[in-house]
Amino acid sequence: MALSGAGSGFGRRTTTALAVLALTLGVTGGVVVAAGGSDDEQALAPSRKPASQGIEHKVDVLLAKMTTEEKLQQVQLLSDGQITDADAKAGVGSVFSLVDPEKINHFQHLAVEESRLGIPILFAYDTIHGYRTIFPVPLGAASSFDPKVAAADHEVGAKESALVGLKQIYSPMVDVSHEPRWGRIVEGAGEDPYLNSVMAAARVKAAQGTDYSAPDKVVTSVKHYVAYGQPEGGRDYNTTDMSEQRLRNIYLPPFKAAIDAGSDTVMCSFNAINGVPGCANKYTETDILKDEWGFDGFVESDYTAVAELRACPGVPNDNFPCGHQVAADAPSAAAMALMAGTDSEMVSKYLVTYGEELLDQGRITMARLDDAVRRILRVKFRAGLFDNPYVDVAKALDPASFGKPADLQAARDAAARSMVLLKNAGDPAPLPLDPDKTTAVIGPFGDDGPDMLGGWSGRGDDDLAPDPVTLVEGLRAQSNAEVTFTQACNRVNTFDPPNNANPPLDPEDEVCADDSGFDEAVTAATDAEQVVLALGETREMSSEANARSDLDLPGMQEELLEAVAETGKPVVVVLFNGRPLALPRVAASADAILEAWYPGTEAGNAAADVLYGVVNPGGKLPVTFPRKVGTVPLYYNHEPTGRPCSPTFKWNSRYRDLDTCKPLYEFGFGLSYTTFDVSAPTLNKTSVKPDGKVRVRIDVTNTGSVTGDEVVQMYLHDPVASISQPVKRLRGFQRVTLGAGESTTVTFTLDKSDFGFWDNSGEYVVEPGEIEVYSGSSSEQVSTAKTFTIT
Ligand code: NOJ
Repeated sequence: MALSGAGSGFGRRTTTALAVLALTLGVTGGVVVAAGGSDDEQALAPSRKPASQGIEHKVDVLLAKMTTEEKLQQVQLLSDGQITDADAKAGVGSVFSLVDPEKINHFQHLAVEESRLGIPILFAYDTIHGYRTIFPVPLGAASSFDPKVAAADHEVGAKESALVGLKQIYSPMVDVSHEPRWGRIVEGAGEDPYLNSVMAAARVKAAQGTDYSAPDKVVTSVKHYVAYGQPEGGRDYNTTDMSEQRLRNIYLPPFKAAIDAGSDTVMCSFNAINGVPGCANKYTETDILKDEWGFDGFVESDYTAVAELRACPGVPNDNFPCGHQVAADAPSAAAMALMAGTDSEMVSKYLVTYGEELLDQGRITMARLDDAVRRILRVKFRAGLFDNPYVDVAKALDPASFGKPADLQAARDAAARSMVLLKNAGDPAPLPLDPDKTTAVIGPFGDDGPDMLGGWSGRGDDDLAPDPVTLVEGLRAQSNAEVTFTQACNRVNTFDPPNNANPPLDPEDEVCADDSGFDEAVTAATDAEQVVLALGETREMSSEANARSDLDLPGMQEELLEAVAETGKPVVVVLFNGRPLALPRVAASADAILEAWYPGTEAGNAAADVLYGVVNPGGKLPVTFPRKVGTVPLYYNHEPTGRPCSPTFKWNSRYRDLDTCKPLYEFGFGLSYTTFDVSAPTLNKTSVKPDGKVRVRIDVTNTGSVTGDEVVQMYLHDPVASISQPVKRLRGFQRVTLGAGESTTVTFTLDKSDFGFWDNSGEYVVEPGEIEVYSGSSSEQVSTAKTFTIT
């Protein structure tokens, strides 16, 4: 009994769950009814609307009145520090990072009332995982394998942003990444294109709603277009060399999903792929995004990315550093960017400065400039800015407008659903904690508010934002017994050093630099009945320009854990971090490990919910956790090799100093306080035409004694293809909640979007032959394959 109909069209599938009476364990359980349709399918259902003829007409009328100078102003995007009254009166297009509603109104009044044509400014901001009510970092939210978590985040983020006059958010960030060294891995949904696509689409739909002119909605900007997640060596902004098939199979799909969901703006990336920078890349910006996908919104450059195209040395009036060296000078950079498809220039002012001269010289065309302006005006009309340009300042400055109880509850639920239980060993297992027992909370992150918010935390730190709840505060709120706190070692938050002077930082100094507090920690552990260690990275160790060359816990945190573990007390480690870490030492000493990521404003409450078992952890890893930094990039959906890894045979693809080919924790892995049985898939047919559909059913049963969540995962593999196909590809998932003994069935419908792949000439191909279908609870814990044949 399927609860919803089959999906239709390319790129869409349907998952349904149906209820069955539980038979395992001999209990009657009860009928489990999942909400109609699957969550991944609902998130991916296209919702881009056709252009409104009324708006197109208004754009034409306005464009016809604009002078060249006004058009060049419209493609300019200034920062909060740059915008002046003169810019607003001249008709500047957009401003970002200005968040003071009075200033926003001030400039908007000038633009609307004192510029010649009265075109409103589009105000933008990096609301990545919340504006003042902060949700878990996107990598955390991805661990929920629940698009409703991403949606709740962007619904609240959009509402709080719009309240202060912002109408565009630079989110979602959908850069698939196989690079844990890269600090920005925290901003996306990890290593898998399908999971990234689902979360991206959910975020776009939630932030924009069906009409982003609504007062609580904003237009999204999906970024960073494209393949920014794969910088060589994991160093931010670094080069990327990318085959066509990888670009299209791995990196483009989340952008396509966001565009299909209606995202009307896109940010082009800093990095070059195959030598061509993202903001001067006609192939990706115009040929694929605009022509192939039919995107009619606009592309803004990333910060100074247009300036960074130019060759060294610089040009007069230009103090930007040397760039990609694909343009000889600033005018050339401006021309390259515009003609490639970049519509709006962030921070640098090359187009507005050199545009007239470039037009005179025929190096840019009026048709292309008009196209860029048309796209920007279209978005402004769709955003309702011409009708409602101003912000209600009283409301925007009222603390009651932010961190509303329902939104805090949503952030708490999201954070709890994002946590991943990596280990819980022993009999009895240390988790869940007992609220009637005394607890020692130990470690540098145990009573730490700011780090809980993670990077890109909007205005989560300011006076109008609710205070972040620390771990010890959250535990105390739910404990009936004493909860002590011992920091044990230091934590230095080195963010925003003056004048960007930022000498190489030694993470060993930033966190747990010495062991002078370890004795106190050991005493606290000895005196308590349960021990929780709060370890991790500061939030400044993740996000932009924060690559690390190591992946272990910085400083002496592992030594702290080992010292505490020597007491013999079972030790629960709670991790706050923004990337996959190499945790063999932690796994060797800790009895339990909870990966909490940076959980946001409600961090401590959400962690306490999970640690006390009020919420049974159900998150799964959206990224592979390696054993050593030297093994990265390491990801589950790799291609096969002629000599696949074997730890015991020399002439194979392996490390001579590792006795395993496995990561420490694989993609899709996560434990629970209960256990589940996920059945092998059953298929409704064994052969199918390329445009046909195959229905896959997977049963899942809670075989333990408490209610819990499982993420049913479905992977495909094409064992013989014209180009090597990944050993597994996630093509469906559904998080289900089941009571003890209860079962349900999840149903996925596969179609050509699942059967095929993009080849190296940019063609999507569905080849005849066998496809293997796996079900499971992680990318490694899978059933035997069932197969069907494409005929
Ligand atoms: C640079 C970052 O790469 C991008 O993600 C961000 O949106 C812009 N700065 C604006 O803050």
